[in-house]
Amino acid sequence: MRKTRVAVLISGRGSNMMALTEAAKKSSYPAEITLVLSNRPDAAGLVHAETAGIRTTSIDHTSFRGDRESFERAMHEQLLRRDIELVCLAGFMRLLSSWFIARWEDRILNIHPALLPAFKGLDTHRRALAAGVKIHGATVHFVSAEMDSGPIIAQGAVAVREGDDAETLAERVLEVEHRLYPLALGLVAAGRVRVVCGRCVIDGGLADGDALIVPEPDDRQQTDDR
Ligand code: GRF
Repeated sequence: MRKTRVAVLISGRGSNMMALTEAAKKSSYPAEITLVLSNRPDAAGLVHAETAGIRTTSIDHTSFRGDRESFERAMHEQLLRRDIELVCLAGFMRLLSSWFIARWEDRILNIHPALLPAFKGLDTHRRALAAGVKIHGATVHFVSAEMDSGPIIAQGAVAVREGDDAETLAERVLEVEHRLYPLALGLVAAGRVRVVCGRCVIDGGLADGDALIVPEPDDRQQTDDR
């Protein structure tokens, strides 16, 4: 089976990148992680990727002295050089310009730690708790010029528990992220996701668990037992 060539862009620990890498090990998975690119040479995720035998490169944005376009051109060249077809942002802490996004239209995925369109931006878990929401989660979406606003591919939910703080909530959301991102990338790489009028249509319809992860019976049990 021909696999879609994917680059994962990171800035830090890279746990989502590793979840994608694990999923891509399966012969039936429709994508392969061809390149891990970091804008921070000291990102811990680079070491994890190298250990997993994945080609890595870092392009230090600070060496471009605020010239975003030159930084993005350097990334773009690396992606072309490796024949990359899809780009996954995974904790990549640089905003991308409309120049870059236009070149990779509907081919850049991002994972955001909230149920979009709620809680765009940073510090999502603290803000979700402050708002008193009872359901929180994560979203994988295509990247558009407006931050955290592109078409939604898949979402995963967790129940907010009494006594949660931003750290405990982040921990449970991260577990969902590690299941959600491989699922969403798998759908896109298999050619099952079309963007129609700014919304994602999943070919073959949505089977349970296809593009939505909800708390499993075990999770609910834990909540009930508390
Ligand atoms: C994740 O919570 C992701 O949703 C957000 O940044 C964090 C990255 O974590 N965009 P990691 O580097 O994948 O561990």
